[in-house]
This record gives sequence, C-alpha cells and structure tokens, in this order.
Amino acid sequence: MDYRPWTIDQNMLQRPRRNRKSEVIRQMVQETHVSAANLIFPLFIVDGTFQKSEVASMPGIFRYSIDNLLREIESCLKLGLNSFDLFPNIEESLKDKYATESHREQSLYLRAIREVKKNFPEACVVTDVAMDPYSSDGHDGIVENGEILNDETLEILGKMALAHAQCGADIIAPSDMMDGRVGYIRNLLDENKFTNVSIMSYSAKYASAFYGPFRDALNSAPKFGDKKSYQMNPANQREALLEANLDELEGADYLMVKPALPYLDVIKLIKDNTELPVAAYNVSGEYAMIKAAIQRGWLNEQRAITEVLTGIRRAGASAILTYHAKEVLENKWL
Ligand code: PBG
Repeated sequence: MDYRPWTIDQNMLQRPRRNRKSEVIRQMVQETHVSAANLIFPLFIVDGTFQKSEVASMPGIFRYSIDNLLREIESCLKLGLNSFDLFPNIEESLKDKYATESHREQSLYLRAIREVKKNFPEACVVTDVAMDPYSSDGHDGIVENGEILNDETLEILGKMALAHAQCGADIIAPSDMMDGRVGYIRNLLDENKFTNVSIMSYSAKYASAFYGPFRDALNSAPKFGDKKSYQMNPANQREALLEANLDELEGADYLMVKPALPYLDVIKLIKDNTELPVAAYNVSGEYAMIKAAIQRGWLNEQRAITEVLTGIRRAGASAILTYHAKEVLENKWL
C-alpha cells in the first residue's frame, strides 16, 4: 500500500533543509550561542613562586603559584575571559581532620584570593567551599568513625565562606553537598554584612567517576571509601529537583549541575523549574576524555570542543565552568 499523502514534487511544503542551505542562513537561524561571558575558568594554585606544573591527566592545564596565577589571569582578561574559579593544592603536612588550613588568614588560598582581587578588581572571582583539599581524610566533611558528619561540617564551611568574602570573593561556591549549607552560609554572610556576595550552589553534584583528574591536580582523593553518602546517585533526576528547590529556598543565586555532559537532562530539568540562572560544570574527566581523543587524532579539536560547550548551553546553562575556557578564546573558536 502506498501511504504517502502527497507526491514529492507537488506538495512537500516543509523542507527544513532550506534553512541550512548556506552559512549565512545557518547562522541567522542558530538558536544557541556560547560567548566569553558565559565561561568560568577553573584554576589550580600551588604554593611557592615561579611554579607552573602541568596536570598529567589534563594536558594544557597547570597548577600555578600565585605570581604565575596573576600572569595567567591577566592574559585571560585580555581575551575577554573575566571569571575564574580557584582551587588550591595543599601540602599534605598542612592537612588535618578539621581542614583548619582552609580558614587560616595566611593560607595559600586566602592569599591568592586577596592578590587576585587586589590586582584585578574587575575580575569575577568564584571560590570553592569544601573541606577536601585541606582534609587529611580527603572528604568534604568531618569524618568520625567512617561517617561524614553534616551539621558539624557546616560550621567549618561557614568559616571558609566568611574568610573568602573577607578576602573579596565575588561568588562563593559550596561544592560539598552537606544538607543546609546554603542557608547556613547565606545567613552567616548576611550577619557579617556581606549581603552582596553571591552563592553559586553545587545543587546537583553527582558521585561521579569524572572527577578523577581534578583529584590528581589537587591530590585530594578520599583516603578511604567514596563520596556516595553526600554526592548524588547518578541514576537520580527527581532528587536533583529537590536539591535545587532547597538551595533556592535557602538563598542560592545560581544552581549548578555537575558534571555536565552525562547530566544534560538534569540541567534542562532544573532550568525549566527555576527563575535562577543555572550553571554547569564541564568537569576534569570530561576535559581529559576530549583531550585524550584529540591527542590520538580521533576527534577534530575545534569542532568537538565547541559542540560540547554549545550542547551544555542548549540544555539551559547560563554559566559554564570549563577547562576549555581559555583555549576557545585564544583560538577564536567562539
Ligand atoms: C571538591 C570538588 C571536586 C570538584 C570540584 N570541587 C571533586 C570532588 O568532589 O571530589 C571536581 C571538579 C572537576 O572534576 O573538574 N569539593
């Protein structure tokens, strides 16, 4: 039986290919754009001077001592890349059970925030609030008898957040996944008159295999067990909405999903259910995966990277934290 309702030459009114017939038209009807304004560049910091060491599992990404960090930020600003998320690599001897180094006035991290804001007040500095880089257990909370304590951890996270605000942080980003931390931090910031410091909450942060290279960069892997009692189960979507709703009620200014690529549905879901801007973290393992394939000549670098970033934007992310941020601007790929 011929079920076609029309014959091809007469009646095909809709031919979507017409809108793809030239570069000019393709660009005219393009729905999603990525620009420098959407990007946040994560940067790793180490102690010392003149330091610049490449992360083995993240080709092209380095740990910088503060002097070189300032040079790196200056070169990014020249490219129109204005937002940075800082992460510290802390010497093992400075780690303890309560992450005390995280709020010590002269710690590497707090010095770095102050220096960046002093030299580049116009740059937007995002700071990471979590215990793991400073914790001798390598976890995001206080560990007792193999358990991660929630409410006791909030106090330390609060001290960190307040210290970051005092050093000039623009946006505080709690990445620990303790319950109630957004409300706790918001309240503490407000009590201390930091009502203008924003909170970008890692709302839906999954217990992911894709953080491996980041933990190499910071030497911050858990010393025992895993993070499944606080980071989310990759199989869950509705739970992400619960987390996002709570963070919004507690005063978050941005809701983040992390990682990005295996969780585009979660980005879209949260975007459809909030008026707040949504951020997505295109994490270290996603970067490593792309770079490894490119090094082998298996993918076209420019096309693969811009497709990844466009996909994350299309899913609904306003801000993308990505290790590709500088290279896409340096190479004028956007
Ligand atoms: C830790 C933290 C992690 C990342 C950002 N903050 C790792 C983890 O939870 O173990 C991962 C970022 C990346 O993989 O690029 N609080």
